[in-house]
Amino acid sequence: MSLFRTKSIESALEQGKSGLHRALGGMDLVLLGIGAVIGTGIFVLTGIAAANNAGPAITLSFVVSGLAAILAALVYAELASSVPIAGSAYTYSYVSLGEFLAWLIGWDLMLEYGVASSVVAIGWSGYFNHILEALGISLPVALTKAPHEGGIMNLSAFIIILLVSAVLAIGVKQSSRFNNVVVMIKLAVIALFIIVAAKHVDVKLWQPYMPFGWQGVMSGAALIFFAYIGFDAVSTAAEEARNPQRDLPIGLLGSLLVCTLIYLVVSAELTGLLPYHQLDVSYPVAYALARVGEHLASSLIAVGAIAGLTSVLLVLLYAQSRIFFSMSRDGLLPPVFCAVHPRFRTPTRIILLTGVMAAMVAGFLPIHEVAGLVNAGTLTAFVLVSFSVLVLRRTRPDLPRPFKTPFMPWTPILAIIFCTYLIASLSAFTLKSFAIWTAIGLIVYFFYARSHSHLATRPNG
Ligand code: ALA
Repeated sequence: MSLFRTKSIESALEQGKSGLHRALGGMDLVLLGIGAVIGTGIFVLTGIAAANNAGPAITLSFVVSGLAAILAALVYAELASSVPIAGSAYTYSYVSLGEFLAWLIGWDLMLEYGVASSVVAIGWSGYFNHILEALGISLPVALTKAPHEGGIMNLSAFIIILLVSAVLAIGVKQSSRFNNVVVMIKLAVIALFIIVAAKHVDVKLWQPYMPFGWQGVMSGAALIFFAYIGFDAVSTAAEEARNPQRDLPIGLLGSLLVCTLIYLVVSAELTGLLPYHQLDVSYPVAYALARVGEHLASSLIAVGAIAGLTSVLLVLLYAQSRIFFSMSRDGLLPPVFCAVHPRFRTPTRIILLTGVMAAMVAGFLPIHEVAGLVNAGTLTAFVLVSFSVLVLRRTRPDLPRPFKTPFMPWTPILAIIFCTYLIASLSAFTLKSFAIWTAIGLIVYFFYARSHSHLATRPNG
């Protein structure tokens, strides 16, 4: 039965009292969410998914995956506000479903944040290299591609992750201020795109609307689900929120609604600028504007996209380091990682380790092949979180719930159905890779985490 041993909510809350600095307010959290969410999904994957999967019905794909994300967010908000401690879905399941599933979720979240940040860094490098070229500076080709793609390494993707990690290590409030500025720039260039592109939209390009049928809409939704990944990063900041009970639900739902609206408008306009099959490029948003003759706006948007992708990186790496921190604090990962730096009051070691690993993946691996893997891990984590909220309502009806998921039990049940449908729409290759990733996680759990867990070594602590 030790697989199902749970950490008590009270002891988890007690743990949360020490260490990290409570510096973030509600608005900071909304911006943290937007910072995490708008990125490679809208700036890069929209074009790819429109060209190869959904056609102009990419808007419909955004609706489907957005519904899945909103349902999951409603479930998240209940757990995040009643269990306001670092660790996200990992912690929530530790107190409700037990250690084993918590471990599996933590393992999936490494895909959601760690591998996703590498994917975003590659997207960043695409726009960055494009700008350099526009300025007449070209990096040697060997330094712009991973070995598998015929290069030596992707240098700019590698370096940007290390730089962002350094910002995070200096401290959360500084990082949050930096994030707020970058998010404003990102929203400004998206507004610019929406205004400038509106003049050039040709509604005839929206026909045929579903050239690849419903299956295309669903495979498109499974791919661009990536665009919504990150909103739950808000919940990982619980231990650093000034008033988590009120501010976490505001941060989660607020950021998701803003992003969904933006995606619908941007993807509708994008597919109205060029025939959908011409959007399969590494910087489609800037590319489409340049093709309709808006060169200045195109360049400004490329610069803004770089800023936007930087903020996504910041939040994803932040979340990854905090999940590692929690798992290490619980004994499931080596304890050396949960030390908080005395001056910066951040878990510096874990931030640097996370940064170096993500930089290696971004610099040297063919990331596009594992992008689907990120979605598989994230969607699985959402399914498990939805189970958690159902279980916790039964096992701990007494728990104070400042935010209650509406329409219980239908919201978590629908979240499970939507997320499972999206998982089933991923490619067979992705699903196989995900099975291998899960098998490795099981091996680590049974050979290390299970026996080192504080629930095993200090059952009363
Ligand atoms: N949602 C984030 C992005 O689109 C991960 O880049």
